Amino acid sequence: MTAEYKVDGAIAVITLNNPPVNGLGLATRRGVVEGLRQALADKAVKAIVITGAGKAFSGGADITEFGKEDAYREPHLISVIQQLDLSTKPVIAAIHSVCMGGGLELALGCHYRIAAPGTSVALPEVKLGLLPGAGGTQRLPRVLGVEAALNMIVSGEAVMSEMLAMLPGQKLFNKMSASAETLLAEAKALALEVADARPLPRVRDLSCKHPQGEAYFEFAATMVQGMSKNFPAPLRCLEAVKNATTKKFDDGMMAEREAFMQLMMTPESRSLRHLFMAERAASKIPDVPGDTPVREIRTVGVIGAGTMGGGISMNFLNAGIPVTILETKQEALDRGVATIRKNYEAQVRKGKLSEQKYEQRMSLLSTTLNYGDLKNADLIIEAVFEELGVKEQVFKQLDEVARPGAILASNTSTLDVDKIAAFTKRPQDVVGMHFFSPANVMKLLEVVRGKATAKDVLATVMKVAKKIKKTAVVSGVCDGFIGNRMIEQYSRQAGFLLDEGASPQQVDKAIEKFGFAMGPFRMGDLAGNDIGWAIRKRRHVEQPDMKYSASADRLCELGRFGQKTGAGWYDYVPGNRDAIPSEVVAKMIDEHRKSLGLTPRKISDEEIVQRLVYALVNEGAQILEDGIASKSGDIDMVYLTGYGFPLWRGGPMHYAGEVGLFNVVQAMGRFAQNPNDDAKFWQPAPLLAKLAAEGKQFS
Ligand code: 3HC
Ligand code: NAI
Repeated sequence: MTAEYKVDGAIAVITLNNPPVNGLGLATRRGVVEGLRQALADKAVKAIVITGAGKAFSGGADITEFGKEDAYREPHLISVIQQLDLSTKPVIAAIHSVCMGGGLELALGCHYRIAAPGTSVALPEVKLGLLPGAGGTQRLPRVLGVEAALNMIVSGEAVMSEMLAMLPGQKLFNKMSASAETLLAEAKALALEVADARPLPRVRDLSCKHPQGEAYFEFAATMVQGMSKNFPAPLRCLEAVKNATTKKFDDGMMAEREAFMQLMMTPESRSLRHLFMAERAASKIPDVPGDTPVREIRTVGVIGAGTMGGGISMNFLNAGIPVTILETKQEALDRGVATIRKNYEAQVRKGKLSEQKYEQRMSLLSTTLNYGDLKNADLIIEAVFEELGVKEQVFKQLDEVARPGAILASNTSTLDVDKIAAFTKRPQDVVGMHFFSPANVMKLLEVVRGKATAKDVLATVMKVAKKIKKTAVVSGVCDGFIGNRMIEQYSRQAGFLLDEGASPQQVDKAIEKFGFAMGPFRMGDLAGNDIGWAIRKRRHVEQPDMKYSASADRLCELGRFGQKTGAGWYDYVPGNRDAIPSEVVAKMIDEHRKSLGLTPRKISDEEIVQRLVYALVNEGAQILEDGIASKSGDIDMVYLTGYGFPLWRGGPMHYAGEVGLFNVVQAMGRFAQNPNDDAKFWQPAPLLAKLAAEGKQFS
């Protein structure tokens, strides 16, 4: 059992002990019930304290149990909480560190609660596409008031215990302990104090009302609906809290349970739960043990103060790590620093950053034209022009000056990290750190593992990524790494769709309706169509049999590189980023179709979405097959955090599983029949074909 039972004089202590965060799995639930049984049977015991071992009171229901048989085995969490509620001896929850989800619901089923300062308190179920399913929606409003409880339940955000303790009239905590260290002793003292108190206070007996009643909930529903249009859970949370004010406690509980079970079956919740697990799994590299010693990163060097170098530097400054930027010319340094200042100043103006923090961050920044000034840096990230010759110069100089053991990283988006590593005499210390633009905003970091990259270098970079709040995903070396290699296939399909009869705006609208933040053509205009043009020119030489629609080349030949030239797939008015359908482009596409002898046909939005998304899926499957990504969840994380794939669909590989891999493969067979498409590409990757035939999924 994963709950311990001990008696200390007149007090029994039940300690949840299910690392890492005392998730309330079956064995733990059984442990609590068994502890309670023993305490009630022991005449010497007058009161019971429940607490958690290690770094949490409890992180809630055991997420790893979801979907498995144990989750449905008695005692359910609701039954456990009912037992506590009905206990004839007082039960005191001693809360510390983390008290979330089912953990908070368990505490709310106790008669008294004492919390240590610094405890993160939350009902975060909504972030998993659920609602609190063990009484949280009925009990929290009774102790915090409707509005504070609704805010916590609908946002899922954690609030510090000391903040909650200050809410006027709150009944969540009977007491705050002086510190985490004194919590247990203070909980026992409280237990002795209340040992003979009767009747025992129960949260379920408290009344729950909002002075504006229906009107308040109508207003709140409009707000919640506006903020969560693709997610069903937030509104269900609201309905449940409303029930707490209108229904009897037991009826409210029943409705909550029903909503919980229904939400558990929704694709949105499956996606969000997948995202939670995939995000944590991404930081684990199969052959790099979790206890691999890491190198210390106290100072960082950045080579190049351009678009990427500036953004990369800001990440470290934000995390309190000093940065030295190196450039070839003083003007370039001045320009780079001015951009960093401008970005911070915009944050200060919007009230997102205090003047003091701004100054603090800028004081950590220094600049140089001299490689010698990087001799003490622990991590040096290169972000110079995307030319192998320039990278060679830089890495050779770094090899001369960097201290032994310093990590040398390249932000290259297309070049071979192994070749870059070979410019040094220490390829084991070289790694790719592929940030996405704007680098100070985008969450994704592809960590590119060269064939010689040392394990402790990888472990260090993964740790650093966490420190600068990035989602790091490891990719092997290949053209485009995970994300751009896949997007190329997606873009190719977008081009073929134009040839066959779709307009840029139809393609964009269809995929944006599916949930992508931006369609491929609007995205091209934002990033610069010339980037893809350069890649295709290279491809025409390296892989002459790779087929592309020539419409994108024609567009670039017209000088329409996108927003930066005021025209791309769309027209733009100066000072405005709105994409206006372009007659020039329509004419260009029409001429291009004629040159191919193609008669435009009506293409459904469904076909557009399938061809774009399944292109990602097939290339993703090949990436897994090639060992470039070690798990399908990593690919999903790349797309969710770097490419605007809709969160509620869980990433391309997860989504393919939702559709059914069999159906995906069938659709690919149909696309292969299209003479304008690339039949060879639509041969399912062997892994995809195998899983589809076995009725399995990627994860
Ligand atoms: N069950 C099982 N494992 C959990 C867990 C949970 N509820 N919460 C976290 N973990 C695991 C993580 O998977 C991770 O495992 P790993 O080390 O093997 O990767 C480990 O705990 C540490 O997690 P983090 O990396 O996230 O560590 P942090 O210290 O940054 O955060 C946390 C800890 C605040 C607890 C965070 O993990 C979190 O927010 N967890 C989710 C809590 C949650 O959503 N609870 C609600 C569950 S649903 C529920 O209770 C239903 C009920 O209403 C009926
Ligand atoms: P940029 O042109 O904005 O900046 C490059 C900077 O490097 C310039 O300031 C230049 O003066 C400096 N530089 C050139 N040679 C140098 C040298 N030998 N020593 C020191 N400084 C030197 O380019 P950007 O966009 O910042 O790209 C940099 C790298 O990041 C490239 O490898 C690119 O492929 C990669 N990248 C770019 C992304 C983007 O969206 N811009 C996204 C991800 C990666």
